Amino acid sequence: MTEFFTSIQLGSQTLPNRIAMAPMTRNRAPGGMPTALMAEYYGQRATAGLIVTEGAQVSDQGIGYPATPGIHSTEQAKAWKQITDAVHAAGGHIFVQLWHCGRVSHPDFHGGDLPVAPSAIKPAGQAFTYTGLQDFVTPRALLLNEIPGIVEQYRHAARIAMQAGFDGVEIHSANGYLLDQFLRDGSNTRSDNYGGSIENRVRLLLEVTRAVCDEIGAEKVGIRISPINAFNDMHDSDPQALFNHVAEALSQLSPAYLHVVEVSMTGGSDDSVDMQQIRRHFNGAYIANGGYDRARGDAAIASGGADIVAFGIPYLANPDLPERLRRNAPLNTPDQDTFYGGDAKGYTDYPTL
Ligand code: PHB
Repeated sequence: MTEFFTSIQLGSQTLPNRIAMAPMTRNRAPGGMPTALMAEYYGQRATAGLIVTEGAQVSDQGIGYPATPGIHSTEQAKAWKQITDAVHAAGGHIFVQLWHCGRVSHPDFHGGDLPVAPSAIKPAGQAFTYTGLQDFVTPRALLLNEIPGIVEQYRHAARIAMQAGFDGVEIHSANGYLLDQFLRDGSNTRSDNYGGSIENRVRLLLEVTRAVCDEIGAEKVGIRISPINAFNDMHDSDPQALFNHVAEALSQLSPAYLHVVEVSMTGGSDDSVDMQQIRRHFNGAYIANGGYDRARGDAAIASGGADIVAFGIPYLANPDLPERLRRNAPLNTPDQDTFYGGDAKGYTDYPTL
C-alpha cells in the first residue's frame, strides 16, 4: 500500500501524501468567529496532504446555518490565523472553503428578509435555524444587477483568506448551495444570461472563479462540485453534459484542482454521471470524494482515476487517518450526535492510535 503516500504537486505546493480532509460543517464558531478549539481540531489533522475547512460564508448574506464561521471580515481573518498557524506549525496545508448557501437558508438569518437564489423556487426540506428545524421558504431571485456583487463577495473572501494565512481557497459549487443552484436546471429557470443554456448556467461559477484566481493566483484555487448529489432538492436534466462542460470551462482558468463529490448524500439520486469523463475534461488535479475506504482509494490513485482522495466522516473521527491507512489499523467510530454544534466532545477528543 504505497499509492496514498507518494507526494504530489498541487499548484505551488508539494503535498506529502494524497489524503485530503474533506470540508465538514461542525457549527462550533459562535457569531461566525473561528475559535481556539477549531485550531486544536484542525491542528490535530495536519498530517493530511491537504485540509479543506468546513464551509465559511463569504458574506452575511451567504450564511445558512447556526455557528458557521465567516471569511469576510478582518476580525475573522485574525481568528482564522490561529487555525492556519496551528496547521502550518504541524507541517500541514490548509485551504478554506468559500460558501454561499443561497436558497438553503432561512429569513431568521437575515433579519426576516428572504434568502437569495437564481430563481424563486422553494427547495423541499428544512433549514437548521437557531430555533430548530423550519421549512425552507421560497427564496428571492437575484436581480441581474446584483450578480456582480455576488462575484465580489467571493473575491473579497479570497483576499481575507490570504490575510488569514490560508494556502488557498476552495470555491464551494456543490451540494445545492448558491453556485450549484445556478448550475443545475432544477433550481435555475432564469431567462437572462445566467440561466437557460449550459453555458449560461455555468457563467456565474466561471466569473467567480476568474475573480478569485485574479485575486490570489489560480494555483491557490480549487473548485468543488457534486454532479449527482440530490441533497438540498437538487436535480439536473443532463448532468453529464453540464459537468463535462463545467470541467472543461474551468480548465481554461487553470485552477489547482477539481474536487468531486461522486455520490449522492441522500443515498438516492435519479441523476447518473460517469465521473471519469469529467476527470478527462479537466487539466488540473482531480480530488475524488464520497464513500472511499483504504482499498478503493488506493485503487483509484493506482489506476489514475484520482490524484487525491478526500475523506469526510472518517477524518472527523480519526485525527491520525493517514497513519491508520498506512498501517491498515482500525478506525474510530464517528459519533453522529456531536457532528453539528457542541464543544470538544466528539470534536477534539477522538483518540490517535
Ligand atoms: C451540512 O451542514 O449538512 C452540509 C454543509 C455543507 C455541505 C454539505 C452538507 O456542502
